[in-house]
Amino acid sequence: MLTLETSQLTRTFGEMTAVNAVSFGVESGEVFGLLGPNGAGKSTTIKMLTTLLPPTAGHATVAGYDIARQAADVRRVMGYVPQALSADGNLTGYENLLIFTKLYDLPRSERRKRVNDALAFMGLADAANKLVRTYSGGMIRRLEVAQAMLHEPEVLFLDEPTVGLDPIARRAVWEHLSQIRAQTGMTIVLTTHYMEEADSLCQRVAIMHHGTIAAIGSPNELKASIGKPDATLDDVFLHYTGDDLESGGSYRDTSRARRTARRVG
Ligand SMILES: Nc1ncnc2c1ncn2[C@@H]1O[C@H](COP(=O)(O)OP(=O)(O)O)[C@@H](O)[C@H]1O
Ligand SMILES: [Mg+2]
Repeated sequence: MLTLETSQLTRTFGEMTAVNAVSFGVESGEVFGLLGPNGAGKSTTIKMLTTLLPPTAGHATVAGYDIARQAADVRRVMGYVPQALSADGNLTGYENLLIFTKLYDLPRSERRKRVNDALAFMGLADAANKLVRTYSGGMIRRLEVAQAMLHEPEVLFLDEPTVGLDPIARRAVWEHLSQIRAQTGMTIVLTTHYMEEADSLCQRVAIMHHGTIAAIGSPNELKASIGKPDATLDDVFLHYTGDDLESGGSYRDTSRARRTARRVG
């Protein structure tokens, strides 16, 4: 059963086509990855699916609701972890989540339990009463995932959930996401430019390039499709997109720039 479906979904900004007639489906309970370099159109796609940005053309449904005509229903059944960090450093983890139980209009009698359950689920029970500004980047990210799950959404959208995290923190986020999927059956749609992340976490991925989908399938199908069973997703990515320096954000350049930034920063 498809939980999410897009048909010719398109978004332009002036002359620039950020997302160009993209069509794909996501199965119920699947972890689906939108993969691609900076500027590929991943965030714009997620923003349309989460009703934050109206499409210029095309359609999409989330849990059966049309993103344009039934936006309020879509918002009710989805959780969203945006690309930029959003937790308040001057509040504790517990307080951050409590605010969201009010925002989601959860019954007062359930709020405390929902918050404690979400914190425990994401491995943050011990840190619940510490100020978020004392959290590591990985803990903040996990808190944001907890926040997006409070209302038990059917579909969880995460935009670059592990960008900027060290490998250990990244792995902890992956493990928790896998656990969410296993225990709740929630459908998860995430974007990433880490091929390794997509490979270990996603049942299926769509490789985005210049606003279009260059290839779609399970990591193993995609590797087989380029005739190299021992290929990595990096190889798949380069095969389908070319190492296009004109894009101003090829995967290689992006990862190189980030490695440099991490060394310097
Ligand atoms: N609000 C906006 N106004 C103008 N251009 C935008 C806007 N948002 C995104 N873009 C452009 O659309 C393209 C896709 O961006 P984005 O979806 O953020 O890519 P990704 O998330 O894959 O890095 C980029 O060229 C970006 O500069
Ligand atoms: Mg983005």
